[in-house]
Amino acid sequence: MKTQLESIQKFSHDSILGAKTSIDLDLVKSRTLGKSSDFNGLMKMLATIPKEERPEMGKLINTVKNELEILINKKQKDLLKSERESSLATQKIDSSLPGVEFPVGTKHPITQTIERITEILGRIGFDTKEGTEIETDFYNFEALNIKEDHPARDMHDTFYLNTDHVLRTHTSPAQIHEMESNSPPIKIIVPGQVFRCDSDVTHSPVFHQIEGLYVNKKVSFAELKGTLSFFINELFGTTPIRFRPSYFPFTEPSSEIDVQCVMCQGKGCNVCGHTGWLEILGAGMVNREVFKSVGYNPDEVQGFAFGVGVERIAMLMHGINDIRLFYENDRRFLEQF
Ligand code: PHE
Repeated sequence: MKTQLESIQKFSHDSILGAKTSIDLDLVKSRTLGKSSDFNGLMKMLATIPKEERPEMGKLINTVKNELEILINKKQKDLLKSERESSLATQKIDSSLPGVEFPVGTKHPITQTIERITEILGRIGFDTKEGTEIETDFYNFEALNIKEDHPARDMHDTFYLNTDHVLRTHTSPAQIHEMESNSPPIKIIVPGQVFRCDSDVTHSPVFHQIEGLYVNKKVSFAELKGTLSFFINELFGTTPIRFRPSYFPFTEPSSEIDVQCVMCQGKGCNVCGHTGWLEILGAGMVNREVFKSVGYNPDEVQGFAFGVGVERIAMLMHGINDIRLFYENDRRFLEQF
């Protein structure tokens, strides 16, 4: 057994010193000391020699093994050092070369617009809430005073998921959820995606709205006007605006709010259909019927609500004339924001 050990020792010694690279040496290491190495074989053979010789022999094997281990570690260090030196010598770094620039993403213009709007309204006390994109007929229509045979249902070009569930056609159902689970005062905005079966240069089947709702004991139309005038002036600078009488089933009285056309300063152009005005908001005083459907007493509370079309605002702010640009994700477009 001793001679066997000696020959293993010699062979291992030579192959360790003979290894040319650190990878070679890794192989040698596993061949010398690994599971199926001759060393392990020797250890197993220990059991076959006379009992009294075993301790001495075992000790000897371990000593040789330790020596080889030390040798391998030392050799590995040397090899790694010289490999590193030669790689540094061959791969000289030219520190005067310009660095590689990694493309950095930007926030989508729609996200930026939502953030801008929620920031402005946040300053005057509106909390931002989240709504749900799938609604029942009750939340999207019924509770908002859009009864089953109401003509306004046609205007909504609804995507029906089944007989009772729809993809919300506006963010207004968030008003109902909020009032059902809270009592006044309520002062919230709810940004989110809405869905309508409609598509051309100014309409996309998926677009974004921001709903606003303020409910308290006493709320006047003057407060609605003040709030929205402040909001529009913060967003577009001091530009002429007008409140035009309109109709929504869930507000009474209702109004649409126009800003003077940012393209032609009111002179009349293609963008504003030669009217000089652009519609940017729908709003009004919360209809008594809506209060009733959430269990509020309409004699005890008042409120106003408004809905902002985010794409529309972003298009006006940046002079964009095709809504589809927002969804194509062409980086040449997105990088401009
Ligand atoms: N929900 C309306 C729409 O989508 C906008 C609106 C919201 C109008 C709140 C009045 C009050 O057109």
